[in-house]
Amino acid sequence: MGEAEDYNYFAKFVKIKNDMSQNTETRNSQYYIDLEHEHGAHNYHPLPVVLERGEGVHVWDVEGKQYYDFLSAYSAVNQGHSHLKIVQALTDQAQKLALTSRAFHNSTLGVYEKKITELFGFDKVLPMNSGAEAVETAVKLARKWAYEKKGVADNHAKIVVCENNFHGRTTTIVSFSNDPEAHHNYGPFTPGFIKIPYSDIDALKKVFETEAENIAAFLVEPIQGEAGVFVPHDGYLKQVSELCKQYNVLFIADEVQTGIARTGRLIACHHEDVQPDILILGKALSGGMYPVSAVLANNEIMNVIHPGQHGSTFGGNPLACAVAIASLDVVEEEQLSERAERLGKLFREEIKKIFEKTDLIHLVRGKGLLNAIIINDSQDSPTAWNLCLDLMKNGLLAKPTHGNIIRLAPPLVISEEQLLDCVRIIEKTVLEFQK
Ligand SMILES: Cc1ncc(COP(=O)(O)O)c(C=O)c1O
Repeated sequence: MGEAEDYNYFAKFVKIKNDMSQNTETRNSQYYIDLEHEHGAHNYHPLPVVLERGEGVHVWDVEGKQYYDFLSAYSAVNQGHSHLKIVQALTDQAQKLALTSRAFHNSTLGVYEKKITELFGFDKVLPMNSGAEAVETAVKLARKWAYEKKGVADNHAKIVVCENNFHGRTTTIVSFSNDPEAHHNYGPFTPGFIKIPYSDIDALKKVFETEAENIAAFLVEPIQGEAGVFVPHDGYLKQVSELCKQYNVLFIADEVQTGIARTGRLIACHHEDVQPDILILGKALSGGMYPVSAVLANNEIMNVIHPGQHGSTFGGNPLACAVAIASLDVVEEEQLSERAERLGKLFREEIKKIFEKTDLIHLVRGKGLLNAIIINDSQDSPTAWNLCLDLMKNGLLAKPTHGNIIRLAPPLVISEEQLLDCVRIIEKTVLEFQK
């Protein structure tokens, strides 16, 4: 480098450093909120908080304020933020080999496949990345099975889904959503779906009785998370499983949100001792560290897919597999299902005590640590949102799901003491809330 170049390089370096130090003063939450507003699509409506660090059940904003995370990235961070074991697995693997594509084998995929299939009790797994991709995969798998095994006539396969479902955002998935926000103006839609009410076994029976010969699958969330944590009636999943067997229809459980210990069992279907034919997992399969999703099924279903018929560049990459192995290890080692079950019961009991002191909230529902409180106000009132703003001010982050419903889902590593501290924050906020 010559002297002039040397100087230019130095001057540029000093300028960058000065810009950075000047910017630290202006780089408060508002700075980042404005940046996102200006340069990002407005497809979300976040709470006005800018997070830059997380550990366990806590997150910190750019001003250094600490919060309890009561959303867990929509139940992706069940193992807690930046769990050391998962971070270690991620960084170790990233330094060795991150991506091969499936054009070659890699030394992590098979190990992961063995672990996940044994843990969940299936012959095979098909690895994908996002939850929506895994749902798409399950839909394709069920259709292919229907044509090649069940004998459904070409292009006649139907999949039964539930009203108020949430399975992701792809064109096919929003085709069978009845949420106007998710659906409106995205047509033309993918045909082949029949919608029935949730938690209504008679409706399922009726649709099977009239057209089971064309029905490939029933796709259902064991608890409807996005819709507002709707728990079906006791015995529903067992009845679904039996009916599906009776009519030779595949039972697909979308456990992207309810799986990986969130509801107090490894998957929510285990509450009723049922095993779906196709299980969809995502989110906490990676402890929120990396997009990892999976579709699990037995051979007679999974073997309908042959090389070249489905896949993804990133699905099953070594980094994803290493992260997922560590995340599943954490669930087992830290007994997160048992923890979610025990603390969930305590949480609902404690929240119910608040009802005696106010009529602002009147219902808490859920399983394990997937819960929601219902605000005593109309669906379209801003009360739930405003209450979340007050919770934020008091150090707890939660968000309304739909209208007057606030989902409360902390990382499952939360301690009893922390959980009770959160109940105190919720109580104080609710009691002091001014409409
Ligand atoms: C039940 C369910 N399925 C699928 C998805 C979609 O997952 P992703 O956002 O990773 O595509 C979600 C996301 O919230 C979900 O709750």
